[in-house]
Amino acid sequence: MKVFTNVKDLGDLNVSLKEALEIKKNRFAYKHLGENKTLLMVFFNSSLRTRLSTQKAAMNLGMNTMVLDVNQGAWKLETERGVVMDGDKPEHMLEAIPVMACYCDVIGVRSFAQFENKTDDYSEKILNQFIRYSGKPVFSMEGATTHPLQAFADLITIEEYKKKERPKVVLTWAPHPRVLPQAVPNSFADFMNEADVDFVITHPEGYELDEKFVRGAKIEYNQHKAFEGADFIYAKNWAAYSDPNYGKILSKDRNWTVDEKKMSLTDKAYFMHCLPVRRNMIVTDDVIESPQSIVIPEAANREISAQLVIKRML
Ligand code: CP
Repeated sequence: MKVFTNVKDLGDLNVSLKEALEIKKNRFAYKHLGENKTLLMVFFNSSLRTRLSTQKAAMNLGMNTMVLDVNQGAWKLETERGVVMDGDKPEHMLEAIPVMACYCDVIGVRSFAQFENKTDDYSEKILNQFIRYSGKPVFSMEGATTHPLQAFADLITIEEYKKKERPKVVLTWAPHPRVLPQAVPNSFADFMNEADVDFVITHPEGYELDEKFVRGAKIEYNQHKAFEGADFIYAKNWAAYSDPNYGKILSKDRNWTVDEKKMSLTDKAYFMHCLPVRRNMIVTDDVIESPQSIVIPEAANREISAQLVIKRML
């Protein structure tokens, strides 16, 4: 595996799930693979889970790890070719990337959508420069449009907790005070569309996601109806995708907050969220603290999804 940005990069999903569960059973079995190899993690944005789980995964594989926070202590990077660099960015990505690549064997990159230009965001301008100019295997630690390590961990968690052969999985939009990217819901849809689940997306009108990820999945604008009989509720906020509202907040309606009343419409569904989560905006205290909440095992599986990807790259 040279690149990991979406579900297709995993190949057969059932084989990948089986491999992930085997890794989970014995996470130190492949410690020899990473001997004298180095993972470089490049962060353009903040992180708790991705930073720790990916380092842990690399350590399980016997690797050394280096972390670069581009906006804290490194030179600010210019991303555009042809720019007269007389501003506040002293280094260009076109030198910085091959230099970083000199010191490592595998690279993980986190670079969120900037919501200044939809075309730039949806072309994954920064992540693709790493893929093109590093000469090293590169995986997304959340790009502008996808968060595949999260979605794979979500799928592993669903596989572990499902009580039916084909569970009903509902992705629900929920309110948030800040503008958030579409990367998590895009990747969740990307993975659920390939998995053996009955997948439904519910959101207010105007929050339609890119069809490239939705791929004809059922959209139900009535959140209560969508929750009926669900086995998993996956909550997430995202900003509008469709023009002319790209990157805008169209609603902060707390009637969309996931609460106990809505959860009672489900078939004792498990509650999922990628974290960090804004309590009593996205989900009530009662629901996230309930026995049906699996947000912590879901976060724990981030180590496993990262380990499978790095293992294949090694
Ligand atoms: N879910 C997730 O990616 O968390 P972090 O932003 O803390 O890494």
